[in-house]
Amino acid sequence: MLYSYLISLFLVLIKKSMPQIIEGFSKLSKEAKIDWLLSEFFPASERNTSSQILEKYLSSKEDLQKLHDEFSENTITNFFLPYGIAPNFLINGKLYALPMAVEESSVVAAASKAAKFWLKRGGFKTEIINTKKLGHTHFVCTIDFLKLKEFFESKLKTQLFNDTADITANMRKRGGGILSITLRDKSHKLENYYQLEAEFDTQDSMGANFINSCLEQFGKTLTREIQNSELFSQQEKDSLQVIMNILSNYTPDCIVKAEVSCKVEDLQENDGIEPDEFARKFHQAVRIAEIEPYRATTHNKGIMNGVDAVVIATGNDFRAVEACAHAYAGRDGVYSSLSHCTISEGVFRFWIEIPLSVGVVGGLTGIHPLVKFSLALLQNPSAKDLMAILAVSGLAQNFAAIRSLVTTGIQRGHMKMHLFNILQNLNATEDEKQYFVEYFKDKTVRHHEVILELERIRKNS
Ligand code: MEV
Repeated sequence: MLYSYLISLFLVLIKKSMPQIIEGFSKLSKEAKIDWLLSEFFPASERNTSSQILEKYLSSKEDLQKLHDEFSENTITNFFLPYGIAPNFLINGKLYALPMAVEESSVVAAASKAAKFWLKRGGFKTEIINTKKLGHTHFVCTIDFLKLKEFFESKLKTQLFNDTADITANMRKRGGGILSITLRDKSHKLENYYQLEAEFDTQDSMGANFINSCLEQFGKTLTREIQNSELFSQQEKDSLQVIMNILSNYTPDCIVKAEVSCKVEDLQENDGIEPDEFARKFHQAVRIAEIEPYRATTHNKGIMNGVDAVVIATGNDFRAVEACAHAYAGRDGVYSSLSHCTISEGVFRFWIEIPLSVGVVGGLTGIHPLVKFSLALLQNPSAKDLMAILAVSGLAQNFAAIRSLVTTGIQRGHMKMHLFNILQNLNATEDEKQYFVEYFKDKTVRHHEVILELERIRKNS
């Protein structure tokens, strides 16, 4: 008796301390959401501090806070990213200061250093290779491909263009629209699987909503036309199932190239390493990233440090950009470097070719004040200009990383930037911070050394 009482008491206590399922969370006010979170997930002793943290990050400007609240669902506060500037980027003869939203302490400094290095050597050159985007209606049916193809060419294709004419009208006025529609046979990979594949030109917008709207209409038109056609048996009609209509974030035909080059002898300023040796080591480092996926992943991550920071600052979708870049890096079946290097006839060339599907209209671009600021700072670029700027940012970041790796090692620069994070954790005063900047001026920052030296100076003061 006592035993079962103790068990049920124990279960009640356990249940009380475990977070409970909540219905209708999204309908609660911001305050009620926070109260619920605090009471379910935080011990009573921590609730005050936790609530103060959330409050600290709210904007005191009501309209701005409202704007941010409405970007997403269930917002309870804001999550800040540092917004830094990397100046002195000479791109196709024009000077830029790049806005970078990134938390990694060395990224902006690395970009600025690379920009300065290449400023004296002719700057960055870019070329837009193409700008096509893709989307698919994925469907299954038992209709023979050749029969379907005939129907597609003779009737369906025109109907797909006609039925999307309203959706594409504005985009066509701006010079874009649907470029082509192709029926693809994928049944050798998955039984009865076909695609309508469309190529789009979305001009200055990233175009996700535009593409998806067109594709959803494709799905409806495809179904209607097949059901109404006399070419197909009832069994064939019944077998048709549109599975989904969706853009592809893989855009291997939306490519930009960015490049730097100079005479090998002009590659000075590399921590005492002779230009010749620097060029050879640099080239070898890129070759390693081309053939070794373990290194390629880190190498490309460094590139994306530069790309993502500007993608975020300009209100674009960094998950889409990341997914596409890595898919492209693996396009030949082995994950490889996005950048390349040659040394030929005394000339060092370093370049990147990267798919970048981004926009400067639509999405957050017209409503997020900092995004608007970023675009104004970049002198209101077209989508193509932005592709070029992003590729340059990635290349610059990659140059800075490889330069450090083949000379001083990465930790010297990284730890210098990380020093403030370490000191912050140790509650260092402003004077102590200044002391450590001097202390580590000519040597690599080591966490342990910071602790010991801080202890020493505090004891002596
Ligand atoms: C760190 O965020 C990025 C690097 O590891 C890139 C690289 O190794 O090339 C420094």
